Amino acid sequence: MFQSQLSSRHLLGIKYISREDIELILDTAAEFKEVINRPVKKVPSLRDVTIANVFFENSTRTRISFELAERRLSADVVNFSASSSSVSKGETLLDTVNNILAMKVDMVVMRHPAPGAHHFLSRHIDANIINAGDGTHEHPTQALLDAYSIREKLGTVEGKNVLIVGDILHSRVALSNIFCLNKLGAKVKVCGPPTLIPKYITSLGVEVEHDIRKALEWCDVANVLRIQLERQDIRYIPSLREYSLYYGINKALLDSINKDIVIMHPGPINRGVELASDVADSGRSIILDQVENGVAVRMAVLYLLAGKVG
Ligand code: CP
Repeated sequence: MFQSQLSSRHLLGIKYISREDIELILDTAAEFKEVINRPVKKVPSLRDVTIANVFFENSTRTRISFELAERRLSADVVNFSASSSSVSKGETLLDTVNNILAMKVDMVVMRHPAPGAHHFLSRHIDANIINAGDGTHEHPTQALLDAYSIREKLGTVEGKNVLIVGDILHSRVALSNIFCLNKLGAKVKVCGPPTLIPKYITSLGVEVEHDIRKALEWCDVANVLRIQLERQDIRYIPSLREYSLYYGINKALLDSINKDIVIMHPGPINRGVELASDVADSGRSIILDQVENGVAVRMAVLYLLAGKVG
């Protein structure tokens, strides 16, 4: 049914894969979405493949989504959490992963706070590596599921105006989305306080708009990001209340703009800060569709990379 044709044996970031790779993943995900909506959701595709989910940072959606994707492909799954591991006794990343691999693991899904941790591992170990988020760098499967969700809702990504609102400076979701949307032919604009928009951003082929109303009037899709207080060593904004006043998206603001705008959010949502509940829980929002699509997209990534195991 499927072809294993990805150009890389790892998924380290969207920057390193082609438009053809992305389209193959999205097309394969569409097949898997049909599978996971059947009464019998499991397929034997990854029987005898062992996958370790190695998480050095907290996660709800990505971790559960990968585990479900792996189990629905009939893979053997082991879960590792840094907080309950020997990392707290001083073990290095490479030693930790090599010990896991010594137990005959074929693929590693990893989230790590250090940008580039996956690149480092890919130079030292044989298993396929999937980046489930590396610090402020990339979150490739989030961008893929976001692109899938836009395509599902609007028919195509090409030519659509996609706005990314919020803490662009600290967001791996923003960076992976920019690479992915650019490769798929969307137009991308970012919006947020000047302190949370990195100066290099226009060199990635995106425009900047600081006025949220103008930005919303322009877009077909608004992908709303949270303020990442846990990554801020200095104060980039005076207060969350002020951020919400100037950049928060609520029903009254959207109603005052005569346009159908698809609202997305990668989660976790800070309700009442970047997004009001009267939008997050409305028909404009496809947030839970994103979560559902995440399983199908991750099944596609695992399936296609597993064709390159060994
Ligand atoms: N979107 C996302 O990465 O969510 P988690 O941090 O819960 O995995």
